[in-house]
Amino acid sequence: MRWDPGLYGRHAGHRGRPFLDLLARVGHEAPRSVVDLGCGSGELTEVLARRWPTAQVVGIDSSAEMVGAARRRTALPNLRFQLGDLRNYEPGADDVLVTNAALQWVPGHQGLLARWAAALPVGGWLALQVPGNFSAPSHALLRSHAGSGQWASRLRGVLRHDDAVGEPIDYLGILLAAGLEADVWETTYEQVLPGEDAVLDWVRGAALRSVLDALSEDEAAEFEAGYGALLREAYPRGEHGTVFGFRRIFAVGHRTG
Ligand SMILES: C[S@@+](CC[C@H](N)C(=O)[O-])C[C@H]1O[C@@H](n2cnc3c(N)ncnc32)[C@H](O)[C@@H]1O
Repeated sequence: MRWDPGLYGRHAGHRGRPFLDLLARVGHEAPRSVVDLGCGSGELTEVLARRWPTAQVVGIDSSAEMVGAARRRTALPNLRFQLGDLRNYEPGADDVLVTNAALQWVPGHQGLLARWAAALPVGGWLALQVPGNFSAPSHALLRSHAGSGQWASRLRGVLRHDDAVGEPIDYLGILLAAGLEADVWETTYEQVLPGEDAVLDWVRGAALRSVLDALSEDEAAEFEAGYGALLREAYPRGEHGTVFGFRRIFAVGHRTG
């Protein structure tokens, strides 16, 4: 799938907040080696490099557009970016492993997570955040619109299902089974978005990308017109903006010894 760092970054404040909330629960004082899997355009990986200036920090992402943007925007001596698939990541060497808003794109990621957790060294931390909003109107309407009329055959198999992520209890089970101390929670952020068609603008940066990629320019515009009307009804614009509630799931594991 083709990512657009500019579009994704339009709601950087709201998108960055869960990362900071996640990181606040990671207690390592001075890791030597930190990895950010599915690092995107690197703004948040940079937060890791600034928090731990003596650590070597690596951001890995499978999107050439994202890795290119990350390399262009930052030049800290302890930070580098690598093009790669997180499914090929070999765990065991890093003291802190972070993956934020990426595993929802990786079917069967629970198996990977179990492997990473099992390989976490003593003193190590593993922290992940995934969106828990696949049954929210934004996603449910996307799936129903993509499955209706002319779109059903054009978009078959393009969208993720509503089980793209597990429930908090699933992640808790994985971390505990690996012998880690676990801290798992969920938060719904009541985000107030500015502007016209605010929710459409948000999903264009992420959930809608695979649909837009699969359609011609004219088809994409037509699809967006129909989906946008449904979103306006589900998320009416109010006096202060458009309220877009967003549930997120967090899991932090720590190997104490
Ligand atoms: C929603 S963005 C999140 C980026 C960043 N972690 C953040 O929080 O801003 C998801 C990122 O996961 C990356 N991604 C998805 N599947 C991946 C995979 N199998 N291997 C590596 N990166 C992947 C995408 O390229 C994209 O940059």
